[in-house]
Amino acid sequence: MTPALKQTSGPQYTRILSYGAARGEIAVPNEDLIGPIDSSDEWIRQRTGIVTRTRAVKETDAIDLAAIAAAEAIEKSGVAASDVDLVIVATISNPKQSPSVSAIVADRVGANPAAAYDINAACAGYAYAIAQADALIRAGAAKHALVIGTEKLSDIVDPADRSISFLLGDGAGAALIGPSDTPGIAPAVWGSDGSKADAVGMNHTLIDYRDGAGDVPWPTLRQEGPTVFRWAVWEMAKVAREALEVAGVEAADLAAFIPHQANMRIIDEFAKQLKLPETTVIARDIETTGNTSAASIPLASHRLMAEHPELSGGLALQIGFGAGPVFAAQVVVLP
Ligand SMILES: CC(C)(COP(=O)(O)OP(=O)(O)OC[C@H]1O[C@@H](n2cnc3c(N)ncnc32)[C@H](O)[C@@H]1OP(=O)(O)O)[C@@H](O)C(=O)NCCC(=O)NCCS
Repeated sequence: MTPALKQTSGPQYTRILSYGAARGEIAVPNEDLIGPIDSSDEWIRQRTGIVTRTRAVKETDAIDLAAIAAAEAIEKSGVAASDVDLVIVATISNPKQSPSVSAIVADRVGANPAAAYDINAACAGYAYAIAQADALIRAGAAKHALVIGTEKLSDIVDPADRSISFLLGDGAGAALIGPSDTPGIAPAVWGSDGSKADAVGMNHTLIDYRDGAGDVPWPTLRQEGPTVFRWAVWEMAKVAREALEVAGVEAADLAAFIPHQANMRIIDEFAKQLKLPETTVIARDIETTGNTSAASIPLASHRLMAEHPELSGGLALQIGFGAGPVFAAQVVVLP
Protein backbone atom coordinates (compact mmCIF):
# COMPACT_ATOMS: atom_id res chain seq x y z
CA MET A 1 0.00 0.00 0.00
CA THR A 2 1.23 3.50 -0.79
CA PRO A 3 2.09 5.18 2.52
CA ALA A 4 0.10 8.33 3.36
CA LEU A 5 2.22 11.43 2.90
CA LYS A 6 2.97 13.55 5.95
CA GLN A 7 1.45 17.02 5.88
CA THR A 8 2.43 20.23 7.64
CA SER A 9 0.26 22.73 9.40
CA GLY A 10 1.29 25.99 11.00
CA PRO A 11 0.04 28.49 13.53
CA GLN A 12 -3.62 29.46 13.41
CA TYR A 13 -2.86 33.18 12.90
CA THR A 14 -0.20 35.51 11.53
CA ARG A 15 0.50 39.22 11.79
CA ILE A 16 2.76 41.95 10.47
CA LEU A 17 5.63 42.32 12.93
CA SER A 18 7.39 45.35 11.40
CA TYR A 19 7.91 47.55 8.36
CA GLY A 20 10.99 48.81 6.53
CA ALA A 21 11.34 51.45 3.81
CA ALA A 22 13.73 52.89 1.24
CA ARG A 23 12.92 55.77 -1.08
CA GLY A 24 14.88 56.92 -4.10
CA GLU A 25 17.61 59.42 -3.13
CA ILE A 26 16.37 62.32 -5.28
CA ALA A 27 13.26 64.44 -4.76
CA VAL A 28 11.93 65.35 -8.22
CA PRO A 29 9.49 68.29 -8.14
CA ASN A 30 6.73 68.72 -10.75
CA GLU A 31 8.66 71.60 -12.30
CA ASP A 32 11.39 69.18 -13.41
CA LEU A 33 8.96 67.04 -15.45
CA ILE A 34 6.49 69.43 -17.06
CA GLY A 35 8.58 70.51 -20.08
CA PRO A 36 8.30 67.38 -22.28
CA ILE A 37 4.59 66.82 -21.40
CA ASP A 38 3.34 70.39 -21.79
CA SER A 39 1.94 70.39 -18.26
CA SER A 40 2.21 72.58 -15.16
CA ASP A 41 2.94 72.23 -11.48
CA GLU A 42 -0.61 73.40 -10.80
CA TRP A 43 -2.21 70.79 -13.13
CA ILE A 44 -0.26 67.92 -11.57
CA ARG A 45 -1.02 69.07 -8.01
CA GLN A 46 -4.72 69.52 -8.72
CA ARG A 47 -5.23 66.29 -10.69
CA THR A 48 -3.00 63.99 -8.64
CA GLY A 49 -2.01 65.60 -5.32
CA ILE A 50 1.65 65.01 -6.15
CA VAL A 51 4.07 67.82 -5.28
CA THR A 52 7.29 65.88 -5.65
CA ARG A 53 8.26 62.23 -6.11
CA THR A 54 11.32 60.25 -5.05
CA ARG A 55 13.52 58.72 -7.71
CA ALA A 56 16.70 56.68 -7.44
CA VAL A 57 20.09 57.60 -8.85
CA LYS A 58 21.46 55.63 -11.81
CA GLU A 59 23.62 53.38 -9.63
CA THR A 60 20.72 52.31 -7.37
CA ASP A 61 18.44 49.52 -8.57
CA ALA A 62 15.28 47.87 -7.27
CA ILE A 63 17.39 45.17 -5.57
CA ASP A 64 19.36 47.79 -3.59
CA LEU A 65 16.15 49.52 -2.49
CA ALA A 66 14.58 46.18 -1.51
CA ALA A 67 17.60 45.13 0.54
CA ILE A 68 17.58 48.39 2.54
CA ALA A 69 13.86 48.13 3.28
CA ALA A 70 14.14 44.43 4.14
CA ALA A 71 17.07 44.95 6.51
CA GLU A 72 15.10 47.58 8.44
CA ALA A 73 12.02 45.34 8.70
CA ILE A 74 14.13 42.45 10.00
CA GLU A 75 15.91 44.64 12.54
CA LYS A 76 12.69 46.15 13.87
CA SER A 77 10.94 42.77 14.10
CA GLY A 78 13.40 41.24 16.57
CA VAL A 79 13.41 38.09 14.40
CA ALA A 80 16.91 36.86 13.45
CA ALA A 81 17.58 37.17 9.71
CA SER A 82 18.50 33.48 9.71
CA ASP A 83 14.95 32.65 10.91
CA VAL A 84 13.39 34.22 7.81
CA ASP A 85 12.60 31.21 5.61
CA LEU A 86 10.49 32.87 2.90
CA VAL A 87 11.09 36.01 0.83
CA ILE A 88 8.43 37.21 -1.62
CA VAL A 89 9.23 40.24 -3.76
CA ALA A 90 6.51 42.04 -5.71
CA THR A 91 7.87 44.09 -8.60
CA ILE A 92 7.26 45.03 -12.23
CA SER A 93 10.49 46.92 -12.84
CA ASN A 94 13.32 44.42 -12.46
CA PRO A 95 15.13 44.80 -15.80
CA LYS A 96 16.59 41.29 -15.52
CA GLN A 97 13.98 38.55 -15.97
CA SER A 98 16.22 36.10 -14.17
CA PRO A 99 17.55 35.59 -11.52
CA SER A 100 14.84 36.89 -9.23
CA VAL A 101 15.20 39.95 -7.03
CA SER A 102 14.07 37.90 -4.03
CA ALA A 103 16.91 35.36 -3.99
CA ILE A 104 19.54 38.10 -4.13
CA VAL A 105 17.80 40.13 -1.43
CA ALA A 106 17.44 37.04 0.79
CA ASP A 107 21.18 36.51 0.55
CA ARG A 108 22.06 40.19 1.12
CA VAL A 109 20.01 40.45 4.30
CA GLY A 110 21.26 37.18 5.82
CA ALA A 111 18.21 35.03 5.03
CA ASN A 112 20.01 32.65 2.64
CA PRO A 113 18.72 29.82 2.02
CA ALA A 114 15.11 31.08 2.43
CA ALA A 115 12.60 30.10 -0.24
CA ALA A 116 12.48 33.13 -2.56
CA TYR A 117 10.39 34.16 -5.52
CA ASP A 118 9.15 37.29 -7.32
CA ILE A 119 5.56 38.02 -8.26
CA ASN A 120 4.09 40.42 -10.79
CA ALA A 121 0.74 41.79 -9.69
CA ALA A 122 1.67 45.40 -10.43
CA CYS A 123 0.31 47.87 -7.86
CA ALA A 124 -1.56 45.03 -6.11
CA GLY A 125 1.64 43.00 -5.75
CA TYR A 126 2.27 43.79 -2.09
CA ALA A 127 -1.29 42.95 -1.03
CA TYR A 128 -1.10 39.72 -3.10
CA ALA A 129 2.18 38.81 -1.39
CA ILE A 130 0.76 39.51 2.08
CA ALA A 131 -2.11 37.10 1.28
CA GLN A 132 0.41 34.47 0.17
CA ALA A 133 2.72 34.88 3.16
CA ASP A 134 -0.21 34.61 5.57
CA ALA A 135 -1.54 31.47 3.85
CA LEU A 136 1.87 29.80 3.55
CA ILE A 137 2.75 30.37 7.21
CA ARG A 138 -0.63 29.08 8.38
CA ALA A 139 -0.15 26.01 6.16
CA GLY A 140 3.22 25.33 7.78
CA ALA A 141 5.16 25.97 4.57
CA ALA A 142 7.17 28.80 6.22
CA LYS A 143 7.65 30.34 9.66
CA HIS A 144 8.75 33.93 9.01
CA ALA A 145 8.16 35.67 5.70
CA LEU A 146 9.62 38.85 4.31
CA VAL A 147 7.21 40.57 1.92
CA ILE A 148 8.76 43.33 -0.18
CA GLY A 149 7.39 45.66 -2.83
CA THR A 150 10.20 47.29 -4.79
CA GLU A 151 10.25 49.43 -7.93
CA LYS A 152 12.58 51.53 -9.98
CA LEU A 153 9.86 52.83 -12.26
CA SER A 154 11.97 55.72 -13.52
CA ASP A 155 13.73 53.18 -15.79
CA ILE A 156 10.45 52.34 -17.55
CA VAL A 157 9.05 55.83 -17.93
CA ASP A 158 8.97 57.92 -21.08
CA PRO A 159 9.52 61.54 -19.95
CA ALA A 160 7.43 62.69 -22.93
CA ASP A 161 4.40 60.53 -22.08
CA ARG A 162 1.73 62.72 -20.48
CA SER A 163 -0.48 59.77 -19.43
CA ILE A 164 1.74 58.56 -16.60
CA SER A 165 5.31 59.95 -16.49
CA PHE A 166 4.52 62.53 -13.78
CA LEU A 167 2.92 59.94 -11.48
CA LEU A 168 5.75 57.51 -10.94
CA GLY A 169 8.47 57.29 -8.29
CA ASP A 170 11.09 54.79 -7.05
CA GLY A 171 11.23 53.00 -3.71
CA ALA A 172 10.81 49.82 -1.69
CA GLY A 173 8.73 48.87 1.32
CA ALA A 174 8.99 45.67 3.34
CA ALA A 175 6.95 43.85 5.99
CA LEU A 176 7.98 40.92 8.16
CA ILE A 177 5.18 38.41 8.76
CA GLY A 178 5.24 35.87 11.57
CA PRO A 179 3.01 33.72 13.78
CA SER A 180 0.49 35.39 16.07
CA ASP A 181 -1.75 34.40 19.00
CA THR A 182 -4.62 36.46 17.57
CA PRO A 183 -5.74 37.15 13.97
CA GLY A 184 -3.52 39.84 12.40
CA ILE A 185 -4.23 39.44 8.68
CA ALA A 186 -7.82 39.02 7.47
CA PRO A 187 -8.73 37.11 4.30
CA ALA A 188 -7.90 38.92 1.06
CA VAL A 189 -10.46 39.93 -1.53
CA TRP A 190 -8.44 39.58 -4.70
CA GLY A 191 -8.94 39.08 -8.40
CA SER A 192 -8.27 40.25 -11.94
CA ASP A 193 -9.98 41.30 -15.17
CA GLY A 194 -7.69 40.56 -18.11
CA SER A 195 -10.40 41.67 -20.56
CA LYS A 196 -9.23 45.22 -19.75
CA ALA A 197 -5.52 44.38 -20.01
CA ASP A 198 -4.88 47.28 -22.39
CA ALA A 199 -5.92 49.95 -19.88
CA VAL A 200 -2.50 50.11 -18.24
CA GLY A 201 0.85 48.42 -18.86
CA MET A 202 3.90 48.43 -21.10
CA ASN A 203 3.47 49.94 -24.57
CA HIS A 204 5.31 47.09 -26.29
CA THR A 205 7.54 44.08 -25.71
CA LEU A 206 11.29 43.61 -25.51
CA ILE A 207 11.02 41.55 -28.72
CA ASP A 208 9.44 44.57 -30.49
CA TYR A 209 12.33 46.65 -29.17
CA ARG A 210 14.95 44.12 -30.32
CA ASP A 211 13.40 43.69 -33.77
CA GLY A 212 12.55 47.36 -34.23
CA ALA A 213 16.07 48.18 -35.43
CA GLY A 214 16.06 51.46 -33.54
CA ASP A 215 12.54 52.48 -34.65
CA VAL A 216 10.85 51.01 -31.57
CA PRO A 217 11.78 52.81 -28.35
CA TRP A 218 12.59 51.16 -25.03
CA PRO A 219 9.31 49.74 -23.57
CA THR A 220 7.67 52.07 -21.05
CA LEU A 221 4.47 52.24 -18.99
CA ARG A 222 1.32 53.77 -20.51
CA GLN A 223 -2.25 54.06 -19.33
CA GLU A 224 -5.70 55.19 -20.32
CA GLY A 225 -5.83 57.48 -17.32
CA PRO A 226 -9.58 58.21 -17.18
CA THR A 227 -10.48 54.50 -17.73
CA VAL A 228 -8.22 53.44 -14.88
CA PHE A 229 -9.50 56.30 -12.74
CA ARG A 230 -13.15 55.28 -13.15
CA TRP A 231 -12.38 51.59 -12.62
CA ALA A 232 -10.43 52.42 -9.45
CA VAL A 233 -13.10 54.65 -7.97
CA TRP A 234 -16.15 52.50 -8.72
CA GLU A 235 -14.95 48.90 -8.74
CA MET A 236 -12.27 49.23 -6.07
CA ALA A 237 -14.59 50.88 -3.57
CA LYS A 238 -16.72 47.71 -3.81
CA VAL A 239 -13.65 45.53 -3.27
CA ALA A 240 -12.69 47.62 -0.24
CA ARG A 241 -16.17 47.18 1.26
CA GLU A 242 -16.00 43.42 0.63
CA ALA A 243 -12.64 43.27 2.41
CA LEU A 244 -14.23 44.89 5.47
CA GLU A 245 -17.08 42.38 5.30
CA VAL A 246 -14.88 39.27 5.11
CA ALA A 247 -12.82 40.65 8.01
CA GLY A 248 -16.02 41.10 10.03
CA VAL A 249 -15.38 44.78 10.72
CA GLU A 250 -16.86 48.13 9.71
CA ALA A 251 -15.34 51.31 8.35
CA ALA A 252 -15.82 52.89 11.78
CA ASP A 253 -13.46 50.26 13.27
CA LEU A 254 -10.53 51.34 11.08
CA ALA A 255 -7.63 53.14 12.74
CA ALA A 256 -6.08 53.63 9.32
CA PHE A 257 -6.80 53.38 5.59
CA ILE A 258 -3.79 52.60 3.40
CA PRO A 259 -4.79 52.50 -0.27
CA HIS A 260 -2.39 52.16 -3.19
CA GLN A 261 -0.95 55.64 -3.74
CA ALA A 262 -2.23 56.09 -7.30
CA ASN A 263 -3.80 59.53 -7.19
CA MET A 264 -4.90 61.72 -4.26
CA ARG A 265 -8.32 62.21 -5.90
CA ILE A 266 -8.86 58.43 -5.95
CA ILE A 267 -7.84 58.25 -2.27
CA ASP A 268 -10.27 61.06 -1.38
CA GLU A 269 -13.08 59.41 -3.34
CA PHE A 270 -12.48 56.08 -1.57
CA ALA A 271 -12.66 57.79 1.81
CA LYS A 272 -15.98 59.35 0.83
CA GLN A 273 -17.50 56.16 -0.54
CA LEU A 274 -16.36 54.06 2.41
CA LYS A 275 -17.77 56.72 4.76
CA LEU A 276 -14.57 56.65 6.81
CA PRO A 277 -14.96 58.45 10.13
CA GLU A 278 -12.71 61.43 10.82
CA THR A 279 -10.78 59.32 13.32
CA THR A 280 -9.48 57.02 10.56
CA VAL A 281 -6.00 58.18 9.55
CA ILE A 282 -5.59 58.09 5.76
CA ALA A 283 -2.19 57.41 4.19
CA ARG A 284 -1.22 60.18 1.77
CA ASP A 285 2.37 59.32 1.02
CA ILE A 286 1.78 60.03 -2.69
CA GLU A 287 2.23 63.78 -2.13
CA THR A 288 6.02 63.45 -1.72
CA THR A 289 6.78 59.91 -2.94
CA GLY A 290 4.60 59.60 -6.06
CA ASN A 291 3.13 56.30 -7.24
CA THR A 292 5.65 53.52 -6.59
CA SER A 293 3.42 50.62 -7.73
CA ALA A 294 4.15 47.50 -5.61
CA ALA A 295 6.11 49.57 -3.08
CA SER A 296 3.41 52.14 -2.46
CA ILE A 297 1.36 50.43 0.28
CA PRO A 298 4.30 49.32 2.46
CA LEU A 299 6.00 52.70 2.00
CA ALA A 300 2.80 54.48 3.01
CA SER A 301 2.37 52.09 5.96
CA HIS A 302 5.93 52.73 7.13
CA ARG A 303 5.42 56.50 7.02
CA LEU A 304 2.07 56.27 8.77
CA MET A 305 3.59 54.32 11.68
CA ALA A 306 6.50 56.78 11.94
CA GLU A 307 4.13 59.76 12.05
CA HIS A 308 1.39 58.08 14.14
CA PRO A 309 2.96 55.52 16.48
CA GLU A 310 -0.34 55.51 18.41
CA LEU A 311 -1.88 53.50 15.53
CA SER A 312 0.08 50.42 16.65
CA GLY A 313 -2.33 47.54 17.31
CA GLY A 314 -5.13 49.26 15.38
CA LEU A 315 -6.86 47.97 12.26
CA ALA A 316 -5.88 49.13 8.77
CA LEU A 317 -7.59 48.45 5.46
CA GLN A 318 -5.10 48.18 2.60
CA ILE A 319 -6.05 47.94 -1.05
CA GLY A 320 -3.84 47.58 -4.11
CA PHE A 321 -4.95 47.79 -7.76
CA GLY A 322 -3.21 48.22 -11.07
CA ALA A 323 -2.01 46.70 -14.33
CA GLY A 324 -3.69 43.42 -15.26
CA PRO A 325 -5.97 44.82 -14.12
CA VAL A 326 -5.55 43.09 -10.76
CA PHE A 327 -6.63 44.00 -7.26
CA ALA A 328 -6.27 42.82 -3.66
CA ALA A 329 -7.53 44.20 -0.35
CA GLN A 330 -7.34 43.00 3.23
CA VAL A 331 -7.63 44.29 6.79
CA VAL A 332 -4.48 43.97 8.89
CA VAL A 333 -3.51 44.74 12.46
CA LEU A 334 -0.78 47.40 12.46
CA PRO A 335 2.50 46.36 14.13
C1 LIG B 1 -3.68 60.28 -15.32
C2 LIG B 1 -4.67 61.18 -14.62
C3 LIG B 1 -3.98 61.97 -13.53
C4 LIG B 1 -5.23 62.17 -15.64
O1 LIG B 1 -6.18 63.00 -15.01
P1 LIG B 1 -7.62 63.21 -15.64
O2 LIG B 1 -8.30 64.15 -14.76
O3 LIG B 1 -8.25 61.86 -15.85
O4 LIG B 1 -7.26 63.90 -17.00
P2 LIG B 1 -7.83 63.61 -18.48
O5 LIG B 1 -6.99 62.55 -19.10
O6 LIG B 1 -9.31 63.40 -18.40
O7 LIG B 1 -7.52 64.96 -19.16
C5 LIG B 1 -8.14 66.20 -18.75
C6 LIG B 1 -7.50 67.35 -19.46
O8 LIG B 1 -6.12 67.49 -19.03
C7 LIG B 1 -5.25 67.37 -20.19
N1 LIG B 1 -4.10 66.59 -19.77
C8 LIG B 1 -3.95 65.24 -19.79
N2 LIG B 1 -2.74 64.91 -19.30
C9 LIG B 1 -2.13 66.05 -18.96
C10 LIG B 1 -0.88 66.36 -18.38
N3 LIG B 1 0.00 65.41 -18.03
N4 LIG B 1 -0.58 67.66 -18.16
C11 LIG B 1 -1.45 68.65 -18.49
N5 LIG B 1 -2.65 68.42 -19.04
C12 LIG B 1 -2.99 67.14 -19.26
C13 LIG B 1 -6.04 66.68 -21.25
O9 LIG B 1 -5.60 67.03 -22.50
C14 LIG B 1 -7.44 67.20 -20.97
O10 LIG B 1 -7.54 68.49 -21.52
P3 LIG B 1 -8.95 69.01 -22.12
O11 LIG B 1 -9.92 69.02 -20.96
O12 LIG B 1 -8.61 70.35 -22.66
O13 LIG B 1 -9.34 67.99 -23.18
C15 LIG B 1 -5.82 60.38 -14.03
O14 LIG B 1 -6.64 59.86 -15.04
C16 LIG B 1 -5.39 59.23 -13.15
O15 LIG B 1 -4.78 59.44 -12.13
N6 LIG B 1 -5.76 57.99 -13.54
C17 LIG B 1 -5.55 56.82 -12.75
C18 LIG B 1 -4.10 56.60 -12.44
C19 LIG B 1 -3.93 55.30 -11.78
O16 LIG B 1 -4.50 55.01 -10.78
N7 LIG B 1 -3.13 54.43 -12.38
C20 LIG B 1 -3.07 53.11 -11.87
C21 LIG B 1 -1.88 52.49 -12.35
S1 LIG B 1 -0.94 52.32 -10.96
